Amino acid sequence: MPGTTKPRCLACAPWPRTWKTALACPGSFCTIPPACKHVHGLFLTFEGPEGAGKSTQLSRLTARLAQLGAPCTVTREPGGTPLGTRVREVLLDPALSIDPLPEFLLYSASRAQLVANVIRPALARGEVVVCDRYADSTLAYQGAGRALPEALLRQITHAATGGLSPHLTLLLDLDPALGLARAARRGQPDRLEQADLAFHARVRAGFLALAEAEPARFLVLDATHPEEALAEEIWAAVTPLLDRA
Ligand SMILES: Nc1ncnc2c1ncn2[C@@H]1O[C@H](COP(=O)(O)OP(=O)(O)OP(=O)(O)O)[C@@H](O)[C@H]1O
Ligand SMILES: [Mg+2]
Repeated sequence: MPGTTKPRCLACAPWPRTWKTALACPGSFCTIPPACKHVHGLFLTFEGPEGAGKSTQLSRLTARLAQLGAPCTVTREPGGTPLGTRVREVLLDPALSIDPLPEFLLYSASRAQLVANVIRPALARGEVVVCDRYADSTLAYQGAGRALPEALLRQITHAATGGLSPHLTLLLDLDPALGLARAARRGQPDRLEQADLAFHARVRAGFLALAEAEPARFLVLDATHPEEALAEEIWAAVTPLLDRA
């Protein structure tokens, strides 16, 4: 009918949006079909071996997003929720010996809580969600690293995430010996950092195989490059995606 304005989901407003419009979003995935078919928000993950520079680049990226005024949720795995934080303490405790299956299930428990309580709600509000490690770490560490069956990992991970996959995964790749040496500068190694070099080499290969299988989702970065150069590469990959957030 002439003169009628279609109801519009505010999370679909063009980028850059202000905090005000973002907060005015209905707060759930669009319920005004068929006007809007957007998957709201933008989900970015950082992956890679120990000491690759994930947290360093995550901080740089989120600082730039904040400068743009982009509503952003920053989180990490394991962790990001009160339950996840407790699970993280257990998983990283160097004094504990944890078998591969319970280790995987603990990561999955943390992930399920994080996706349901933090990541999905933030995406539904139209925010950029940046997560330090996510499901690819499970496939690399518990799959390639610990040799748990991939089908089992994928099935439980799907249950934990409801199939939620990142729009873009930034994989910082480097020789594990170099990454462990970097991480060692921080002090006492955690439970994962204590694992032998052969384990970390399998993890690295696992990450690279995942990237090869899904080249559209992954950006593989040479983590031996200087921090500043890596930050520019990451920014160049992220900015074209912002208008979908
Ligand atoms: N491009 C880089 N070149 C050299 N050193 C770097 C680079 N990026 C980060 N570092 C340094 O390497 C160390 C590990 O970086 P960071 O904590 O960001 O890695 P990480 O991947 O988050 O590690 P973890 O897997 O333990 O969480 C830090 O001391 C950091 O300053
Ligand atoms: Mg880190």
